Amino acid sequence: MVRHMWANGALICGLLAAPPVAVCALAAGVGTLGLGWAAVAAPASMLAVWLVLRHPLHDARELVDYVRRLASRGQPLIPPMRTAMGRELVTAIARLHETMNEEARQHAALAASHGATLDSLPDPLLLIDSAHRVVGANLAAQALLERDPEGADLASVLRVPAVLDAAEQALAGIPVEDVEFSRPSGGDGVFAARFKRLSEPGPGGARLVLSLHDMTAARRADRMRAEFVANASHELRTPLASLQGFIETLAGPAKDDAAAREQFLPIMLQTATRMARLIDDLLSLSRIEFDEHTQPKEAVDLAAVVLAVVDGLVPQAAARSMSLDLNAPAGLPPVRGQADQLAQVLQNLLDNAIKYGRDGTAVAITLAALDGKVAVSVHDQGAGIAREHLPRLTERFFRCDAARSRELGGTGLGLAIVKHIVNRHRGQLLIDSQLGRGSTFTVHLPVFAG
Ligand SMILES: Nc1ncnc2c1ncn2[C@@H]1O[C@H](COP(=O)(O)OP(=O)(O)OP(=O)(O)O)[C@@H](O)[C@H]1O
Ligand SMILES: [Mg+2]
Repeated sequence: MVRHMWANGALICGLLAAPPVAVCALAAGVGTLGLGWAAVAAPASMLAVWLVLRHPLHDARELVDYVRRLASRGQPLIPPMRTAMGRELVTAIARLHETMNEEARQHAALAASHGATLDSLPDPLLLIDSAHRVVGANLAAQALLERDPEGADLASVLRVPAVLDAAEQALAGIPVEDVEFSRPSGGDGVFAARFKRLSEPGPGGARLVLSLHDMTAARRADRMRAEFVANASHELRTPLASLQGFIETLAGPAKDDAAAREQFLPIMLQTATRMARLIDDLLSLSRIEFDEHTQPKEAVDLAAVVLAVVDGLVPQAAARSMSLDLNAPAGLPPVRGQADQLAQVLQNLLDNAIKYGRDGTAVAITLAALDGKVAVSVHDQGAGIAREHLPRLTERFFRCDAARSRELGGTGLGLAIVKHIVNRHRGQLLIDSQLGRGSTFTVHLPVFAG
């Protein structure tokens, strides 16, 4: 429509932009050819023609000039017109121009809001045209690919043959399944590519939306769940098999054997107790994990919690001639937490210190306030932990010496529980150990700020 108008403008210009004298000459020429009385040049009639045409001609010239300036994206003032027709025309052109400007503004705003919507999506998203070129990429895609891939061929952006094949099929209108592939920039990330063909061309001529979903956490969770179930079943199966063996013996060959009964029953009770403990620990771990994302809100006097746990473990320590030395300065600020969970942390750390410490040595429990945190550390003088085992200590069922831990009634879940409780409290667990000299487990907890 605009082009038409410009063309008409040019035509008007061509015909009418001539100076008045030329128009008179033209009028005279026409008269000469058409009517045959040109020999009598009639200056009076030429003047009359000029007089009639000068205002329309003026308006036409002004209009052409006005349209030209509008076309070159200027903001010209509306020129004064001398004829009613000119005034009507110039008003119509100005209105048309304003309408087109408004439409252009709306288009730009719409494009910007589409762009912002795509950028706000957490998943990387690529818009692909029918020539397999990337015609748009949201911020998440640019971050993942570490560049803006717009204008590049899809094959140079994602060098994954399965994804490229699926994109080609999707563009051809063939339904395709999601394609899983490893993180484009390496590492252990896993992504699922999803394809959505657009029935109408989208922004930039896009015909396909390729979205990438980060499956890393989901796959890791799957793996951990499978490992966890395998470990838990294994931990339960061993004592269960032993119980089954004892029951079969007592029900069969040792049916009337009082001595065997007396020998086996305490072992059976111990085994069953260990199984019950394992189940309790598993339940407590799953409960802690369940609300790990909600930080506790109570103000807890950590020194009082520690003192109560230490008191309760004195008999266990005494059984190995060990002492529990508590060093808590007065006036420690309260920490933000949940008292029973913090007691469990201390219980598990002290239980380990006594279990893996050396007979006749002291276990030191020290509290201190530091940088908006209260730290509690448990130091034993046991055999220590090999450096390579340190990063794995808080994994469920991890034990440096599984046989020894089992013999001591351990399930291998104590430190995993500690880690999850500390995480829930937005605290930190630090482990320092030297083989042959002992270990120090320190927990930092945020001070209660009201
Ligand atoms: N203070 C320590 N000194 C030496 N080794 C330790 C100490 N604390 C933990 N460990 C090692 O870390 C492993 C994991 O400890 P964790 O408390 O999670 O399980 P556990 O003590 O074996 O069993 P549970 O705590 O469930 O009774 C232990 O088996 C042990 O090998
Ligand atoms: Mg333990």
